[in-house]
Amino acid sequence: MEILGIDIGGSGMKGAIINSETGELVSKRYRIPTPASRNPGDMAQVFKDIVDHFNYKGPVGCGFPTIIKNGVCISTSNLSPTWKNVNAEKIFSEACGQPVTVVNDADAAGYAVMNYGIGKGKLGLVIMITIGTGLGSGAFFNGELIPNFELGQIPYKKYKKIERWAAASIKDRENLSFKKWGKRFNVFLKLVEVIVCPDYIILGGGTSKNFDEFKKYIKIDTPVVPAHLGNHAGLIGAAVAALRPHVKN
Ligand code: BGC
Repeated sequence: MEILGIDIGGSGMKGAIINSETGELVSKRYRIPTPASRNPGDMAQVFKDIVDHFNYKGPVGCGFPTIIKNGVCISTSNLSPTWKNVNAEKIFSEACGQPVTVVNDADAAGYAVMNYGIGKGKLGLVIMITIGTGLGSGAFFNGELIPNFELGQIPYKKYKKIERWAAASIKDRENLSFKKWGKRFNVFLKLVEVIVCPDYIILGGGTSKNFDEFKKYIKIDTPVVPAHLGNHAGLIGAAVAALRPHVKN
């Protein structure tokens, strides 16, 4: 089956048609910058524009960068506070006229790597970390998703959340070298290791493409590997989530 996946981030909203059997993109990726307001009305309009671009009819899966419970945005994170308690599934479905399933973006990315990527068949506790505007995390135990694991929210020193010190957006904002940022990211991974004791960590999001540049600064015992699906993991997993009702919680 071919399904439209839409991956929403703090800087871009991306869509592609995915083959749900193989996890492959069967269209080109289409990206529109996230509206500066980051509010529900403006983002729903962009959502509709992406669906219209593909002239798509059918179920749409969406990865969204906040905690999502039953389609509702529980914490607003790096988006506008106007998202708080908004039913993202409802407003996106109404905007585009198609049924939409919304899940957390890192859960979606993890879904892709566990189904089609390097996480396939991995047992124990696998943590997918997405490095982007924030630090997302998707947790899988023996292949089953534990939704809304929010490891980027761990408080660190004066920061309410460690993602405000170690995300890719901070690397860009502070113009940090891979060495400087990689050391920060390693502090984050160390905390993850101490707190949840994973068996395996998989890295996704745009910055994971540069793994070779920062892998030498990662000094933890848990194996850490990049998701070879790279930045497409979010899109692929979003599409697949539309077919997997058990992602609902
Ligand atoms: C949010 C997470 C999200 C991550 C990546 C964080 O700020 O709290 O829900 O997965 O950003 O977008």
